[in-house]
Amino acid sequence: MARILVTGGCGFIGSHTVVDLVEAGHEVISVDNYSNSYPWIEDRIVELIGRERYEHQEVDLRDYHQLAALLTNCKAIDGVIHFAAFKSVAESVKNPLKYFDNNLIGLNNILRACDEFAIPYLVFSSSCTVYGNPPELPVTEQTPLPEPESPYGRTKRMGEDILKDYVKASSTHVVSLRYFNPVGAHPSIRIGELPIGVPSYLVPYITQTAIGLREKLTIFGGDYPTRDGSCIRDFIHVCDIAAAHTQALEFLLNKRFTSQLEIFNLGTGNGVTVKEAVQSFLKVSGVNLNYEIGPRRDGDVVAIYADNTRAREILGWTPRLTLDDMMDSAWRWEVSLKEMNDQLIR
Ligand code: WQD
Repeated sequence: MARILVTGGCGFIGSHTVVDLVEAGHEVISVDNYSNSYPWIEDRIVELIGRERYEHQEVDLRDYHQLAALLTNCKAIDGVIHFAAFKSVAESVKNPLKYFDNNLIGLNNILRACDEFAIPYLVFSSSCTVYGNPPELPVTEQTPLPEPESPYGRTKRMGEDILKDYVKASSTHVVSLRYFNPVGAHPSIRIGELPIGVPSYLVPYITQTAIGLREKLTIFGGDYPTRDGSCIRDFIHVCDIAAAHTQALEFLLNKRFTSQLEIFNLGTGNGVTVKEAVQSFLKVSGVNLNYEIGPRRDGDVVAIYADNTRAREILGWTPRLTLDDMMDSAWRWEVSLKEMNDQLIR
């Protein structure tokens, strides 16, 4: 059992990882500034895992004094899982400084805290965005990284570059996890993806259109050089992503690393087209969906999916949930949100 600090603990992947860590027997101290999440997620997490091994506080990582105060007043931390970051490609293009400020200052303060409070292990939330438009598929962790295509992608690429320099001057060991497209919701349907405002991501846009919050889904581009003309992605269930974080942390705790910075792809290895993802949703939900094929979206990668051999062989991680599981849980979560809002409105 270890004591783990989880930053962004009320966010999409953070909340699911908090649940997985506690269910695996660890203690969690979660922090969040609610800039891209909601305080009531804490109550939902307590419903799932209780408070015996879970505490949560509002902390803004851009203010080092808040972070240092928390760490000064709590028992020693064995590891940090750092999720807290903004993650919209589209928004980052319009407002790059918001992304550099939040994502990079937040990371720098976490690294400063690891040194000041002798925290031996860190898991960093990276992204397949660092691969850009890869020339070869599937991508491995050795695939050369091109110039980032968005400020968001640049913050993840810079984050990994910062870690390369950091580990040379620190005793903290780091794992960087490159997520592909996390989707879906916890089987309890009490936590899930909660985009604030109009979603830019495909799956919440599908479910919000199907539930009637959005008028129509546009599939961005039907003329790509792929099997059906739409983009290809590696969709992966958020619960499989959460499990990988617990396994990455235990990989560090058990000192199974061979270098001070280890990088892993977290994808299923299956490339799925946007049209195939829509068909999966229609099949499992049984509802109609108003959608059309529209123009391409600037900055979109044509196709990307993972070679996940390293995560399988070294972390012992196996993604278990299918695309249908992802769409089914995402839809049931959207329905639960409507029921919650309907009750609030009454
Ligand atoms: C997926 C596909 C769109 C919305 C994101 C993050 C990135 C990484 C992976 C890790 C694309 C199409 C979308 C819509 C559509 N996450 N689409 N209509 O851009 O692959 O990357 O997930 O942390 O950091 O940015 O995700 O869901 O926006 O798009 O046709 O209304 O769905 O064109 O092909 P993306 P996405």
